[in-house]
Amino acid sequence: MSKNNLETRKTESYKIFDKIAGTYDLLNHILSFGIDIYWRKVVIKNLPKRKDLEILDLACGTGDLTIALAKADGVKSVLGIDLSKGMIDLGDVKINQRKLSDKASMEIGDGVNIPKPDNSYDVTTVSFGIRNFPDTQESLNNMYRVIKSGGRSMILEFSIPKNPFFKMIYFFYFRYLLPFVGNLISKHKDAYSYLNQTVEDYPYGEEFAEMMRKSGFKNVHFIELTFGIATLYIGDKE
Ligand SMILES: C[S@@+](CC[C@H](N)C(=O)[O-])C[C@H]1O[C@@H](n2cnc3c(N)ncnc32)[C@H](O)[C@@H]1O
Repeated sequence: MSKNNLETRKTESYKIFDKIAGTYDLLNHILSFGIDIYWRKVVIKNLPKRKDLEILDLACGTGDLTIALAKADGVKSVLGIDLSKGMIDLGDVKINQRKLSDKASMEIGDGVNIPKPDNSYDVTTVSFGIRNFPDTQESLNNMYRVIKSGGRSMILEFSIPKNPFFKMIYFFYFRYLLPFVGNLISKHKDAYSYLNQTVEDYPYGEEFAEMMRKSGFKNVHFIELTFGIATLYIGDKE
């Protein structure tokens, strides 16, 4: 797929997630060998050390991060927003099953324009969502806008490993094995081929950190996870 087609497809990427929602969780854990659970724990570890945190989780999907956040110490409430009704319907079920509905909830909402007032949350998060948005910089601007002074934003996203040997294995897995298994189990003709293309073309490391600084974030830093397969970006509002 050409770069232009890829960008156009991002405006409606949530429709793909609507179609693959039913197999999303299963495939997530199989295709990441369960490492995604550890990555979310690193997000929790980096929450501001305060009480009564109110958190907005963008592109919450079926809610794995929303739920992990709701269970964390110091968290008062988490609202997950996503454009895919299919994904959040499943997320709602998981929240109810875990008896977390007093702390966690979900609603339809855009992660780019973020339909929330300025300075209204302590933390905004997004895990494996921002690369699917049609405008990353605008989303970062709005993540910054909706957090209060002293607030923090954390973005967990795939990245490319630096080690040449590991990179070779990773690309083989990502370009061939993952799309094959993903498309087969989700029964979608190219959902997982598209997902891997969004990773290879996406800014990561210092380039992404610079975009956060451009949106106004301070103390921007990032933590490479599992040889750099994923990266957690952290930025604060002073
Ligand atoms: C790979 S899933 C990530 C879900 C979840 N955060 C996780 O870690 O499992 C990407 C999610 O982004 C959502 N999405 C795509 N574009 C969006 C947008 N503009 N605003 C909000 N959500 C969006 C999709 O519907 C999908 O649920």
